Amino acid sequence: MNKIIEIKNQKLLRIINTLVLISVFFLYFNTLYANGYTEKNTNQSKLFNIGKTASKKEIAGWDIDVRPDGHGLPDGSGTAADGEDLYDEKCSSCHGTFGEGEGSWPKLIGEHSSIKTGISPEKTVGTFWASPSTLIDYIHRAMPFTEPQSLSWDETWAISAYVLYLNDIIEEDFIFNRESFASVKMPNFGNFVTDQRPDVHAIRCMKNCKKVEDISIKVALLGYASGAEDADQYTSGGSNSQKDETPMEIKKTLGQETYDIACKICHDQGVAGAPKIEDSQAWEARLKQGIDQLFAHANEGFQGTNGFMPAKGGQSQLTEKQVNDAVEYILIKNNLQMEKQ
Ligand code: HEC
Ligand code: HEC
Repeated sequence: MNKIIEIKNQKLLRIINTLVLISVFFLYFNTLYANGYTEKNTNQSKLFNIGKTASKKEIAGWDIDVRPDGHGLPDGSGTAADGEDLYDEKCSSCHGTFGEGEGSWPKLIGEHSSIKTGISPEKTVGTFWASPSTLIDYIHRAMPFTEPQSLSWDETWAISAYVLYLNDIIEEDFIFNRESFASVKMPNFGNFVTDQRPDVHAIRCMKNCKKVEDISIKVALLGYASGAEDADQYTSGGSNSQKDETPMEIKKTLGQETYDIACKICHDQGVAGAPKIEDSQAWEARLKQGIDQLFAHANEGFQGTNGFMPAKGGQSQLTEKQVNDAVEYILIKNNLQMEKQ
């Protein structure tokens, strides 16, 4: 009998213990919750008792962007002459003595003439970037690669000035600072245009849509991947990604770009025996030899009975694909694109 009472008591004790524990937990969380909630500014960090409100100083550490309109331009100043030694010491091992790039480290200078072709300026600070603010921001934020954010603002102004000087954008003694910033014009400024590719304005398909498996994404990285021509095209998805499936509209836009630069001069008016772009009959006749033959003649040059067609229209910097797109553009204009298949 005693034993039974003892066991019963033990059971009771255990139940009481558990109840007490539960209420303690409940009270604890309830207070936490109430604390968090009753504060005017319901603060997650208080609620869960983790983290803290960022201080002004901490926010300032992140808020370092420098924008083309001059927002965020730092104090200080420097000239290219000031920056030369700093650059040699901190940057040249990767980017080369004159910004030409060591090995496969990025180049910081480019051929100004590459901008004029209008298709693929070299993607360097000098020939691609549109505003000097990007340079100041980037160097201060990210360089030297192994020691980001170690440069003072004076050093940043001076090294930025030196990189601009290497690119023939400013003189060696130009004092680069907040006051003179707006007078620095980057050579490629003005060549950034609103994206006109037709797919940008595409409307979402809601009925009779293509199956996902049948859709492939194709991006033309014009002039971006240096060297290999094949690298112009990055394809993903789709079953037969080998076939050139660039949508007709995009092809037309890309082709027209090349046509205007390299082909228009002869083919618009029919100069020197060139078939006029709108002469459908002439193009239909020429297409009879097959589109590959037209591609080959446009790329390699062609002496016909009417005159001489120079290789790539004389613009040797064009890739084979750019020239082919221009040929297709001509055919599309004449409603001859379907003959290809
Ligand atoms: C250890 C090698 C190294 C050093 C030293 C170095 N960089 Fe770089 N730099 C890089 C790499 C790598 C990139 C590309 C980073 C990326 O794309 O994410 C780069 C990119 C850049 C770019 C952008 C280039 C572009 O066209 O996108 C600039 C500008 C630049 N560095 C300037 C500097 C300056 C100025 C210094 C000296 C203060 C410096 N770098 C020191 C390796 C280095
Ligand atoms: C300097 C003038 C000139 C320029 C620039 C030029 N072409 Fe031509 N093209 C010609 C002439 C002339 C012919 C006709 C040759 C003949 O049949 O006698 C021709 C013919 C062609 C043909 C037909 C070839 C064939 O086999 O029948 C194609 C395709 C062509 N050009 C594409 C282009 C493209 C694409 C460009 C620009 C990248 C271009 N051309 C730039 C002069 C030019």
